[in-house]
Amino acid sequence: MSKQLRVLALHGPNLNMLGVREPDVYGHTTLAQIDEALATQAGGLGCALDCFQSNHEGELIDRVQAARTNADGILINPGGFTHTSVALRDALAGVGLPVVEVHLSNVFARESFRQHSYISGIAVGVISGFGDDSYRLGLEALVAHLRR
Ligand code: DQA
Repeated sequence: MSKQLRVLALHGPNLNMLGVREPDVYGHTTLAQIDEALATQAGGLGCALDCFQSNHEGELIDRVQAARTNADGILINPGGFTHTSVALRDALAGVGLPVVEVHLSNVFARESFRQHSYISGIAVGVISGFGDDSYRLGLEALVAHLRR
């Protein structure tokens, strides 16, 4: 039997507003619905999942640092911090866990300031543009990577 993997799913700023926030860009699914779907998926994959959202960079960094001893991999939608946060990137690089970066929207098809990510360079991979399905694909890819 394969070992029980532990995944931390992190959601950055404004993602608590999903469902209300620019639904034409981000869809109508709420963050609670995304987390519920991830939990069901994780159960099916035989992995433990912890979900956390914050609008505060430092809180996200604290959770990344804690993951060093209590998670095997990190699924993250860094929201706007994708494009601004050297500190979040440093935290992720520092813990050395496999990271999969996800975005609901296709950031490469949007404004130029969204086309650079501080996170992608330390991620195993990036999934962008599939709406809430980006999370499902991201968790599947992360778990497959961890089992490899
Ligand atoms: C986002 C894309 C970011 O550019 C934006 O700041 C977000 C959401 C996405 O999921 O498409 O907050 O990460």
